[in-house]
Amino acid sequence: MNKLPDFPWDRLEPYKERAREHPGGMVDLSVGTPVDPVPPAVQEALARAADSPGYPLTHGTRELRAAAASWLLRRHGVGVDRADVLPLIGSKEFVAWLPTYLGATHVVFPELAYPTYDVGARLAGARGTAADGLLALGPERVDLVWVNSPSNPTGRVLPVEHLRKVVAWARERGAVVASDECYIELGWEEQPVSILHPDVCGGSHEGLLAVHSLSKRSNLAGYRAGFVTGDPLLVKRLLEIRKHGGMLMPAPVQAAMAAALDDDAHAEEQRARYAARRAKLRPALEKAGWQIEHSVAGLYLWATNGADCWEQVRQLAEIGILAAPGDFYGTAGSRHIRIALTATDERIDAAVTRLL
Ligand SMILES: Cc1ncc(COP(=O)(O)O)c(C=O)c1O
Repeated sequence: MNKLPDFPWDRLEPYKERAREHPGGMVDLSVGTPVDPVPPAVQEALARAADSPGYPLTHGTRELRAAAASWLLRRHGVGVDRADVLPLIGSKEFVAWLPTYLGATHVVFPELAYPTYDVGARLAGARGTAADGLLALGPERVDLVWVNSPSNPTGRVLPVEHLRKVVAWARERGAVVASDECYIELGWEEQPVSILHPDVCGGSHEGLLAVHSLSKRSNLAGYRAGFVTGDPLLVKRLLEIRKHGGMLMPAPVQAAMAAALDDDAHAEEQRARYAARRAKLRPALEKAGWQIEHSVAGLYLWATNGADCWEQVRQLAEIGILAAPGDFYGTAGSRHIRIALTATDERIDAAVTRLL
């Protein structure tokens, strides 16, 4: 294992303390943790499955896998066999361990990215390269390429042609492409496309994995619910390892996740909440001197006023708003901040009042 990075959130503490001093209390827009209720039907499904004394299957129930396959087809035009769905205890654990599962020696991830791609490479003792342009990598060996569309932190959506090129590049070299699609339901100005969509992969899932999460779509971050699907041979190999490793999703969570995947109404409701918060926050930040870049999808506004990111965090902390500094996500983010849409309507309104 390579050295792990320092946990960067500790560096935000002084700004958090400053923001807390605001008479109206802090508005915390630094993390993307859901604040709205778990849909009642999902809570009921969890409760109904509460009497689960036996070990659950690593592969998950048939119902859960069928619900995932049917959601992918219904919502994203992606056809997978339910045998090729593998439940995850939230997608983060999988992001962190996939390079180890694959025995990867070189992992490539986006320049501005969710830090766990880098952590995963380090856990595997692999080399990690932050690069958006794969062609610049030259002929060296790459085992795994991460893509993330819509992106955390930038809210950028990768067009079909871009994804197609990534797939072709990786297939030529025998590299696996893992696509982190945990924000796929949150397209605003642009609609994200799955790596497994026939327009991208030409109908074959060979060498491809799509990672999904219920954390944001269904407010299930606290349940730890996600799944991976794609190349049948890869999924089989991953299942084998996860069986041995005891990576079991609790049975009540499996039942809750199946209920969540079978219902689109609550996801639409949640989407509308985020859209309304975004519609308020975005113009308020712009009026206060911030420019919003990318942010056409996903759960964040990627903003800059030209100053160093920590200075921008300080400026917002003075008015009781906590943002995440862009350099948490890569050196290319040193002049940006990330603003999450995951706060209650009351807190978003408070932020807007303070910005105007
Ligand atoms: C890009 C990305 N991938 C994966 C995750 C992990 O989500 P979870 O473990 O809740 O499924 C997050 C969480 O914020 C994320 O932003």
